[in-house]
Amino acid sequence: MSCRLAGTRKPAEPCSIVILGASGDLTSRKLIPALYHLCREQQMPAQFRIVGVARRDKTDDSWRAELRAELEKFSRTKPIDEKAWQEFASRISYCRGDLTDGETYLALDRQLAAESLPELRRNLLFYLAIAPTQFAQTVEQLHLAGLLQKERGQGWQRIVVEKPFGSSLPSALQLNQELTRFAGERQVFRIDHYLGKETVQNILMFRFSNSIFERLWNRETIDHVQITVGEKLGVGQRGGYYEEAGALRDMVQNHLLQVLALIAMEPPVSLAPEAIRDEKVKLLQSLRPLTPKAVARQIVRGQYFAGIVDGQPRAGYRQEPKVASDSNVETFVALQLFIDNWRWSGVPFYLRTGKSLPASASEVRIQFRPTPNVLFAAQCAQQLYPNALALRLQPHEGIALRFNGKVPGTTTEVRPVRMDFSYNTEFGAYTPEAYERLLLEAIAGDATLFIRRDEVETAWGLVDSIRAAWEGKPLTNREFYAAGSWGPVAADELIAASGQAWHSPSP
Ligand code: BG6
Repeated sequence: MSCRLAGTRKPAEPCSIVILGASGDLTSRKLIPALYHLCREQQMPAQFRIVGVARRDKTDDSWRAELRAELEKFSRTKPIDEKAWQEFASRISYCRGDLTDGETYLALDRQLAAESLPELRRNLLFYLAIAPTQFAQTVEQLHLAGLLQKERGQGWQRIVVEKPFGSSLPSALQLNQELTRFAGERQVFRIDHYLGKETVQNILMFRFSNSIFERLWNRETIDHVQITVGEKLGVGQRGGYYEEAGALRDMVQNHLLQVLALIAMEPPVSLAPEAIRDEKVKLLQSLRPLTPKAVARQIVRGQYFAGIVDGQPRAGYRQEPKVASDSNVETFVALQLFIDNWRWSGVPFYLRTGKSLPASASEVRIQFRPTPNVLFAAQCAQQLYPNALALRLQPHEGIALRFNGKVPGTTTEVRPVRMDFSYNTEFGAYTPEAYERLLLEAIAGDATLFIRRDEVETAWGLVDSIRAAWEGKPLTNREFYAAGSWGPVAADELIAASGQAWHSPSP
């Protein structure tokens, strides 16, 4: 039997995908490769068009040629399938225009009106591949040109919005208000690409389709939970953006809190988008508020200085391009969070993420309580290893269960052993990119894998309380870490205080 996380899929209706800000990186790195694969694998509607809107002067043909060259670099399958590309490219066109100018939208309208199939004129997916400061104005212009209707009419219009969705709770509130002046909440699809990852989607399947685990999923048996999202990369050329964001806003507000919500939420009443999103919001709302004192005790920030990553020297964050030489921006965060609800009362959740770490690897680790150390105390020098379940989100996608077993022989030695499930071994190397799944869901109008307004706002509330406690406090020596290490010592101390240690996923 198989069932889908995002409801029962009707065949997708014909539509036009309009990429606003089409000459940016996102289009060539992620969107076009994803759409090309969906088309090649015949997952797109039988009739669809892609229209790119940007300021630079290009023709349909010159834009296609550019995209083709970029696809060579960014496609997850090589070589490019020539026949599939030709079929895909024939659906791509370009509309030149400045997004601040109302004329552009009229030109877009004319271009869409030339489509012979009515659905291609009416069913419109607007992908805002633009700076967040342009979101509100662009949506207003779409509305003014009659391309975006809030009321349900003939056809549908949706807007897909990339992160960052605001930079604080007040700015997210304002942005939500501005967008929903011209589009209903059901038309707004806020992307968090972590939700497009197979392993993240599998969290719900794993939890709620396996009775052996679900009945253990609570404070009675779980000692604590660790969520690590590590990255070897430094900030590289993104210093300008990162100086404004920092690890807390760049990763915790969205990806880490989303993973936490899926790991800890209550079972939804159904697989309907709102049912799942309701439970995620409830979970986020149950996070214990962080007072300034709690921030000092439970949140560790860090910034990397020069070190060695993968055997190569790595400059310190403050030496990266477009970064202030006295920057206080955090490139690492570790958090101890508590969920004040019935299931999780008293169970600490440890989250950490950072740049220039020793591994690009993400993992959720459920650490169970140990058994009483009575039977094997004499045979085991230390405590028995407690059972642990590791959900490897990336790479080496899979799930491992650690339990204790007897070492063969005449002694009564007990040692931890592993039961391991690997996606590759079980399902082969079918690894669609997160954007493929997300685009498909947006085209189908299924919002399960997108972030609802109240989720975004609740997450910002938590992040804002941490930022407020850091305000005006420069980083101290204890908060720096060498590039290539797992963050500042204070992060180890944070978890050591409860007698535990971080488990670092392998690269
Ligand atoms: C993005 C962040 O949202 O996620 C980046 O802006 C980060 O800083 C990236 O590198 C990580 O995504 P992934 O899929 O590589 O884990």
